[in-house]
Amino acid sequence: MTISESSNQLIKDFEAALNLDGHPHSGQPLFAGVDLGTAYIVTAVVDSRGTPLAGALTRSRASIRDGLVLDYVGSITILRQQVEMLRRSGFPLQLASAAFPPGTTGKNAQAFGNVLQAVGLDVAGLTDEPTAASLVLDIDEGAVVDIGGGTTGISVIQNGEVVYTADEPTGGIHVDLVLAGHYRIDEHEAESIKTDSVRQAEIFPLIQPVFQKMASIVKQHLQGYPVKTLYLVGGTSCFPGIERVMEAETGLTVARPHNPLLVTPLGIALSCLKENAVELRAETEGK
Ligand SMILES: Nc1ncnc2c1ncn2[C@@H]1O[C@H](COP(=O)(O)OP(=O)(O)OP(=O)(O)O)[C@@H](O)[C@H]1O
Ligand SMILES: [Mg+2]
Repeated sequence: MTISESSNQLIKDFEAALNLDGHPHSGQPLFAGVDLGTAYIVTAVVDSRGTPLAGALTRSRASIRDGLVLDYVGSITILRQQVEMLRRSGFPLQLASAAFPPGTTGKNAQAFGNVLQAVGLDVAGLTDEPTAASLVLDIDEGAVVDIGGGTTGISVIQNGEVVYTADEPTGGIHVDLVLAGHYRIDEHEAESIKTDSVRQAEIFPLIQPVFQKMASIVKQHLQGYPVKTLYLVGGTSCFPGIERVMEAETGLTVARPHNPLLVTPLGIALSCLKENAVELRAETEGK
């Protein structure tokens, strides 16, 4: 299984909409998804057909090393700016969903919705990140591997349901640390080198062991599950060649969508649409 052309096109449309290349909306309902990551906060906006209309992406300052999965105050500040910017650009957001990392429960999961409420958004629902990603990838079987800034989420999906989930402390920050150590530079500079497409081939041998370690962690978690395909999402999955390392280490088919960084945020917006569609149907049926 690979990624369908329509899934990749959806992500490309969101990528274009992020640069506000889209047309300001003309009064139709808007559905938003907010991904409160430790490295980036991303908001996606879709219309009632699930077409991406707009979005915003901001680096966040939460530090997984401080033990923060969610920097409540910092997230509110960034999200408020994003919502204001989108409203000024002609997208008057009101309804939005949030997502929580796999395995988060109770009050910890609720906190992700509280950030949305704090900036005046109405929370349509809370979903887990791999389920959101699966809506964009249009899959109901396989493993979603979300390699973000601080952590790697591993989720097994069977019949459209998440049946196993784990979140391991390995991600882009560990790649940065290896580069920082090698070149004797700070993490900020390391991050610039890592995301510079001109230098990625040169640094690949240095960071390959980090990817191998990530892959072996993924492999361990999937033992006992009849998974055939890994779907790579999250910003660190953007790095060219990581898919080959994953394939070699796990022996599984690895599918990587266009711009893996954008998959989960877009999926959260689709989940907002889905929740609302269910509610609208229930209201109509109840009449
Ligand atoms: N082109 C790229 N190549 C490699 N890494 C990238 C690229 N673009 C972004 N990244 C890395 O992706 C990471 C952020 O990914 P993502 O937005 O999925 O994380 P997050 O959701 O904020 O973090 P977490 O899931 O750990 O809370 C950062 O470490 C960033 O350096
Ligand atoms: Mg994430």
